[in-house]
Amino acid sequence: MGVLKSLTIVAMVLGCLCTTMGDDPEYVYPDDWNDPNRDSFLYGTFPDDFIFSSATSAYQIEGGWNTDGKGESIWDNFTHEGGHVYRNSNGDISCDSYNKYKEDVALMAAMGLKYYRFSIAWSRILPQGTINNINEAGINFYQSLIDEMAANGIKPMITLYHWDLPQALQDIGGWDNPDIVQHFKNYAELCFQRFGDRVPLWITFNEPWIVTLFGYGTGQFAPGISEIAYTPYRVTHNIIKSHAAAYHAYNDTYKPFQNGQLGITLNSDWSEPWDRTNQTSLDASDRALQFNLGWFAHPIFKGDYPEIMKTKIAKKSTAQGLSESRLPAFTPEEIAYIKGTGDFFGLNTYTTNQAVANVEDLSNPPSYWKDSDVISWQEGSWPGSGSGWLKIVPWGIRRLINWIDNEYNVPIYVTENGVSTGDKYELDDIIRQKYYRAYINEVLKAIVLDGSNVKGYTAWSLLDNFEWGAGYSERFGLHFVDFNDPDRKRLAKGSVDVLSEIIKNNGFIKSDDKGNAHVVTSYGLAFTCFGVLLSQILNI
Ligand SMILES: *[C@@H]1O[C@H](CO)[C@@H](O)[C@H](O)[C@H]1NC(C)=O
Ligand SMILES: *[C@@H]1O[C@H](CO)[C@@H](O)[C@H](O)[C@H]1NC(C)=O
Ligand SMILES: *[C@@H]1O[C@H](CO)[C@@H](O)[C@H](O)[C@H]1NC(C)=O
Repeated sequence: MGVLKSLTIVAMVLGCLCTTMGDDPEYVYPDDWNDPNRDSFLYGTFPDDFIFSSATSAYQIEGGWNTDGKGESIWDNFTHEGGHVYRNSNGDISCDSYNKYKEDVALMAAMGLKYYRFSIAWSRILPQGTINNINEAGINFYQSLIDEMAANGIKPMITLYHWDLPQALQDIGGWDNPDIVQHFKNYAELCFQRFGDRVPLWITFNEPWIVTLFGYGTGQFAPGISEIAYTPYRVTHNIIKSHAAAYHAYNDTYKPFQNGQLGITLNSDWSEPWDRTNQTSLDASDRALQFNLGWFAHPIFKGDYPEIMKTKIAKKSTAQGLSESRLPAFTPEEIAYIKGTGDFFGLNTYTTNQAVANVEDLSNPPSYWKDSDVISWQEGSWPGSGSGWLKIVPWGIRRLINWIDNEYNVPIYVTENGVSTGDKYELDDIIRQKYYRAYINEVLKAIVLDGSNVKGYTAWSLLDNFEWGAGYSERFGLHFVDFNDPDRKRLAKGSVDVLSEIIKNNGFIKSDDKGNAHVVTSYGLAFTCFGVLLSQILNI
């Protein structure tokens, strides 16, 4: 009897254990929006032409900072100056992808990726930034990368500007000098000429909001300029004109026979109204998005800056004793020239904020941060990550996609999404596995349930890499990179399997996905029944 009794207890314990294991809890949050299904999981597939991609950027992975004739960029200068980056790390070698790009392509191929988003280092192909000095060795590097990708059936999504301006152009004022528009156009045309026959997707700028605010407003990022009231608005003005010039060059001369699409990648958190029943709160949320995404997207997709930015900044500038608005004005010709210069909207998003209206602030000193009259914060209860700013809120990406779809009505590519973990050796990256499943599922909902026009999803990042001001202390990679190993060996993390499975199924298939869990649950129930039956028979 002793043995049977033990068996009964073991069966019951196993039964309970297996039954709970059958559930795979996704991220679930208190629902303040009266939508009981918000966090539930959706099984289904993406449209047949949906694109899965993974992203990196030149300065963050290449290394070879002065190899084969490459010129200095503002990030070379900024990191070498010291004092700006955690532990004074730099991208001199980083992942050494300049030498190991074939290995990187093999990793993508193993995941079943058909697209790869990477950026071109401007100063690798134009060391002084200008067209009169072309570095053929730099061109050859990107040709070899594209060759290797083609051999593996992987197509390029190329970012022209991912923050690494040639230092020589910064020496004449960088993005704050209107001459930059012509220099950027020349650089872009060189890229269209040399690579364009094999590039279906071009992105002019990556996250210009970060360039203007962190590069020229707070000075946290290269080139380290800190003037927050005027410079970001001037810099954005030049960036938008540069984007439009590149668009027209492509649209007029290259697109007719190269047949690619050209867009821009903007970054934003979702901005959740603190009280969805209160118009003041709804307006604050919208304002936060207009001052972030709309600042760039409105001129490009609709013509001119958002009305709310024009009126608010003009009113504040007057109250601050200025004779003209700190927000520069486009001429009617410029508005017409810029409007419609995007074939798609590239979206980088990672997290969500709550937003509530602030009292109107007309005071001096002026600052971009005060111009929108919005207070934003994140809930302490939202799960965190390896980055202080990145709280995990999957439902936010769906609402943001809906907002963009309603506002601009253009195809959307998610060009970055992902999560960091801290600087430790960890291959079973549970947080990242859950993050990708949950966020990609919300993208699926945005398409299937809401009818949003999302054409692709890009995971940031293929590799752990140089995370700007945080150096190597925050890891976003699907693959672990040991930065102390001279060989920079890459190791797949668990999230590689999770993403590969989603790519293979083009979504989430219930039988495949939950198959094992169901088997486990059935065994669990069987064990429990068996246990209950035994206990009845034996009258324990
Ligand atoms: C940064 O650039 C400036 C201007 O070109 C140059 O004078 C300086 O030496 C550079 N600093 C470093 C550390 O490369
Ligand atoms: C809406 O919120 C604002 C503060 O953001 C508050 O002053 C106002 O009373 C609220 N309105 C209603 C109808 O609750
Ligand atoms: C792009 O080129 C097409 C075909 O020539 C033209 O119809 C369209 O207006 C151009 N787009 C812009 C924004 O100029």
